[in-house]
Amino acid sequence: MSFKTLSDADLSGKRVLVRVDLNVPMKDGKVTDTTRIERVLPTIREISEAGGKIVLLAHFGRPKGEKVAEMSLAPVAPAVAELLGKPVAFAQDCIGETAKTAVDAMANGDVLLLENTRYYKGEEKNDPEFAKELAANGDLYVNDAFSAAHRAHGSTEGIAKLLPAFAGRTMQAELEALGSALSTPVRPVLAVVGGAKVSSKIDLLENLVSKVDILVIGGGMANTFMAAKGINVGKSLCEHDLKDTAIRIMEAAEKANCEIVLPADAVVAWEFAANAKNETVALDAIPADAMMLDVGPVSIEVVKQKIDSAKTLVWNGPFGAFEIEPFDKATVAAAQYAAEKTKAGLLKTVAGGGDTVAALNHAKASEDFSYISTAGGAFLEWLEGKELPGVVALEA
Ligand code: 3PG
Repeated sequence: MSFKTLSDADLSGKRVLVRVDLNVPMKDGKVTDTTRIERVLPTIREISEAGGKIVLLAHFGRPKGEKVAEMSLAPVAPAVAELLGKPVAFAQDCIGETAKTAVDAMANGDVLLLENTRYYKGEEKNDPEFAKELAANGDLYVNDAFSAAHRAHGSTEGIAKLLPAFAGRTMQAELEALGSALSTPVRPVLAVVGGAKVSSKIDLLENLVSKVDILVIGGGMANTFMAAKGINVGKSLCEHDLKDTAIRIMEAAEKANCEIVLPADAVVAWEFAANAKNETVALDAIPADAMMLDVGPVSIEVVKQKIDSAKTLVWNGPFGAFEIEPFDKATVAAAQYAAEKTKAGLLKTVAGGGDTVAALNHAKASEDFSYISTAGGAFLEWLEGKELPGVVALEA
């Protein structure tokens, strides 16, 4: 796909409406994880240095068209200012007189954050009138919020049709990284997909088997595949009603020449708790009263071999119950191994999804991955092969 970037925009003296994702975790009115803010700083700085006026558009939470005070973006403005190292003004409305007055008062290079776009129903409805009101405060539109691009909303899609539209630097980096991982990858491509349930990732698995060379399935969802193959998974998390779906996915993989790799051994426990009594067992020896909380050392070796054989790795979802020790072992071992290979220049690694980022951070592997997406739902929809409306709207 082709899209215009900041390099194509004449920014000097322009009012630039920049859609960012400031849907950040907050506690007691303070931002607790600044990753998303950090990601949009390059775009803000570049526009500011080029003499543009940066008008930030963002949503926060899901207020469903109501002015819910707890979902105000007001406390986010100082957090952006602190990281940016320059003042960020705040306007208590994203459209109308309040927004216009604040924009009119800006000098070149200034930064202004407008209140939550989702305070208006027109945002989620992608109402053209609402998009027009947003667009009234800008000469150009820049979308730097890949993580919100799966929403066809006024500030992500509607507005892009009304103003010259460009991808911000983070959006650009995201699209380039994701494109080089699945659209035009260096093969062989290995996908690692974990997480609790097959039901939440059916489309994703179906799309991946048609695109990648090897698919390693981990986490709770692997149990459903194992059960479909006749393995007794005891009390493990398992969607027994989805056995047919699992079989269909395995058949599709075979047709597409995609190798599916399931666990080769299991770490089982009798309760879901940190440091619970556990055993490593062969797959045909999972006790009827125990549950699988991680894969064992044989599986870890197999995954390392698959990583060795790949040139590109796409990762979504942890292997085991990585949030409780010692059931984080396989996730940590595989993540660190992939990170080492990346550092050595042997592998391109792209990962995304809420749990995945937490798991890779836990494994201290994130820094060495080639690209970590901050997107949750958008990353999943991209893995499903869906077109993201916010991205399509940028297509030149
Ligand atoms: C996210 O947090 O993944 C994005 O900001 C999108 O939020 P949403 O799921 O409420 O649309």
